[in-house]
Amino acid sequence: MSKNITKAVFPVAGLGTRSLPATKAVAKEMLPVVDKPLIQYAVEEAIAAGIETMIFVTGRNKNSIPDHFDKSYELEKELEKSGKTELLKMLRELLPPHVSCVFVRQAEALGLGHAVHCAKPVVGDEPFAVILPDDLIEDGSRGCMKQMVELFNKEQSSILGVERVDPKETHKYGIVEHTETAPKVGRLKSIVEKPKPEVAPSNIAVVGRYILTPAIFEKIETTGRGAGGEIQLTDAIAALMKDEQVLSYEFEGNRYDCGSKFGFLLANVEYGLLHKEIKDEFAAYLKQRVSRV
Ligand code: G1P
Repeated sequence: MSKNITKAVFPVAGLGTRSLPATKAVAKEMLPVVDKPLIQYAVEEAIAAGIETMIFVTGRNKNSIPDHFDKSYELEKELEKSGKTELLKMLRELLPPHVSCVFVRQAEALGLGHAVHCAKPVVGDEPFAVILPDDLIEDGSRGCMKQMVELFNKEQSSILGVERVDPKETHKYGIVEHTETAPKVGRLKSIVEKPKPEVAPSNIAVVGRYILTPAIFEKIETTGRGAGGEIQLTDAIAALMKDEQVLSYEFEGNRYDCGSKFGFLLANVEYGLLHKEIKDEFAAYLKQRVSRV
């Protein structure tokens, strides 16, 4: 019987050291791109893909994430009193009623593989999505995860979202080698975490979007410490690939690495140019500003 993807895991326990000092007291996933925190974009992408259970793997200093998705009685009362109905409506629609949130604590930051494994009791024996909110993906319509779920519905196997990166940057990503099986789709032959350019098998990088079968949990359990001394999801996927088909999928859309200052700035510019309230004013400003560079 074919399975559906109904759960998404958001590993959000990371310290966000690349964005310090902004992330000293604020969760990196709460940094806003224009007017929405990164975590909200990630959850909206999951909802657009038909996912109904959001599983956040959190850590210390991340209370603002559950607060963001919680009902805010005081704020709603104030907005009601002052007749700000549009804002009230927007707040109430942050999370549709059919969507539920589950929070799991990752007590020790032992790596992405370990974070995903923390979600095992909630995921159970089902295929599931993993979304890293740092990687913000704009595809102009259905969203990256929806594209991947559509492929999953046909293939019923694990899928990694990938994109070609500058060959000098392979040390920042999980890098795959694959055999193309259809346009944009490949069958994984190998995967390695953050190889130096000289030894990288390709420049095809895994970005923060995965669909995984539950067999990944057993693989994580037997995965030792890998790159950076952490339990790497990449290494568990390398083991999974030996038992079952794992696909790579070159998604449509633009990705912004919001964990880096430059990527975060690009995302703000691009989302500013798309935002219905400010796009015209912002575009006019940019044109005028660029002429002075
Ligand atoms: C993680 C993964 C890496 C992947 C990357 C995508 O690395 O370990 O394989 O390419 O996310 O953003 P991180 O950026 O958390 O170090």
